[in-house]
Amino acid sequence: MHSLFSQVQIGRHTLSNRMVMAPMTRSRSDDFGVPSELVPTYYAQRAGAGLIISEGVFPAALGKGYVRTPGIETAEQVTAWKQVTEAVHARGGRIFMQLMHCGRISHPSLLPDGALPQAPSAIKPAGQTWTATGLQDFVTPQALSVVEIAAVIEGYRQAARLAIEAGFDGVELHAASGYLPEQFLSTGSNQRTDEYGGSAENRARFVLEVLNAIATEIGSDRVGIKLSPEMNFNDIVDANPQETYTYLVEQLRGLNLAYLHVALFGASVDYHALLRPLFDGSYLIGGGLDQNAAQSLLAKGQADAVVFGNAFLANPDLPERFRTGAELNVPDKDTFYAPGAQGYIDYPAMSPAQSA
Ligand SMILES: Cc1cc2nc3c(=O)[nH]c(=O)nc-3n(C[C@H](O)[C@H](O)[C@H](O)COP(=O)(O)O)c2cc1C
Repeated sequence: MHSLFSQVQIGRHTLSNRMVMAPMTRSRSDDFGVPSELVPTYYAQRAGAGLIISEGVFPAALGKGYVRTPGIETAEQVTAWKQVTEAVHARGGRIFMQLMHCGRISHPSLLPDGALPQAPSAIKPAGQTWTATGLQDFVTPQALSVVEIAAVIEGYRQAARLAIEAGFDGVELHAASGYLPEQFLSTGSNQRTDEYGGSAENRARFVLEVLNAIATEIGSDRVGIKLSPEMNFNDIVDANPQETYTYLVEQLRGLNLAYLHVALFGASVDYHALLRPLFDGSYLIGGGLDQNAAQSLLAKGQADAVVFGNAFLANPDLPERFRTGAELNVPDKDTFYAPGAQGYIDYPAMSPAQSA
C-alpha cells in the first residue's frame, strides 16, 4: 500500500515522498520578472516536499498576466532562478518549473510596448485583472496567426531549455485555470476555423505541439502537465469537456510524460476515473485535499502522488506535521500576492521539541 511517506518514481526522478507542493503564484518578483532575494528562502523552507512545482512562470514577456510575476527568458531571470534551485537541492528537495502563458488573461499595461494579449481568438474575457494602477477590465485580445503560434511554441521550448539551465529538475505545462493552453482547448475562447480550432482534435493541437517541443528539448521523462477540467476559472467555457479531455489525454499516451496532474474543483463528473486509465505515466491529484483524503487516494491506488497548495503555503514543514499529527498553520489570504517577507517566509516551522 502506498503511503504519503513512501518513495515514488516520477519520470526520471525518484521522489523521497508522495507529497507535492502545488504551483502557486506569489508575486515576489520585480517588474522585469526577476525573482527577489526572498524566493530561494521560500522554496528551500518547503524542500521537504517530494516535489515542489514552482509558481507559474511566463515563458516569454507576452505571456505575463499578473504584476510581479516571474519569467524565464532573460539572463537575469535565469541567474535568479539558479539561486532557487541550488537552495532547494542543498536541502535535498526537487523542483519543477511551471510554465504559465496567460494568453488573454492579461492586460496591455503588463506587456511589452503595451501590446494586446495573445489568444486563439479575439474574444474578450469577462472580468477584471489587477494592474499596477488597480483593477482594470480585460481587453479584446489579438488572435494569433499560425506563424505567431509557432513563435509562441518556440518560446515554450526555449523556456524549458533555460529552466533546465537554471537547475530545475523538470517543467510542468500549465494547461488549466483559463490561461493560453486552456483557451485553445475550450470552445468558448477558441472559435478558429483553421487546424487549431473546431474539433477536439484541432483544439488540442496547440497543447500537444507545446508538449512535443518541450519534451524534445529536455526529455519527456521530466515533463508534466496540469489540467483542471470544468474549473471554469477566468471565464473559460467548453461545450463538451468530457470529449475534449478524453481526446487530449489519449494523445498524451504516446508522449511518455513524467506525470499528469489533475486538480478538480466541483466538476460534474469524476474526471480522475475517466482520465487516469487513459494515461500511462504517474498520476497526481490535487485540489482541496487534506491528509486523510490524500492518504486514502494513495491507499486505493487512485493517485501516485498528491498535491497540496494552501497547506504547503502556510506550513513549510508540512510532511513533518503530517508525520507527527501536528496542528497546521492557517494561510493568510491577504498576503498571498503582497510584496515582501510577511506571509511568505515567516510561517513558522515546528520546534525540534514538537517534531520529536
Ligand atoms: C496563492 C495561490 C496561487 C496559485 N497560483 C497558481 C499557479 O500559479 N499555477 C497553478 O497551476 N495553480 C495555482 N494555484 C492553484 C493551486 O496550484 C492548487 O490547484 C489549488 O490551491 C488547490 O489546492 P489546495 O486546495 O491544496 O490549495 C494557486 C493557488 C493559490 C492558493
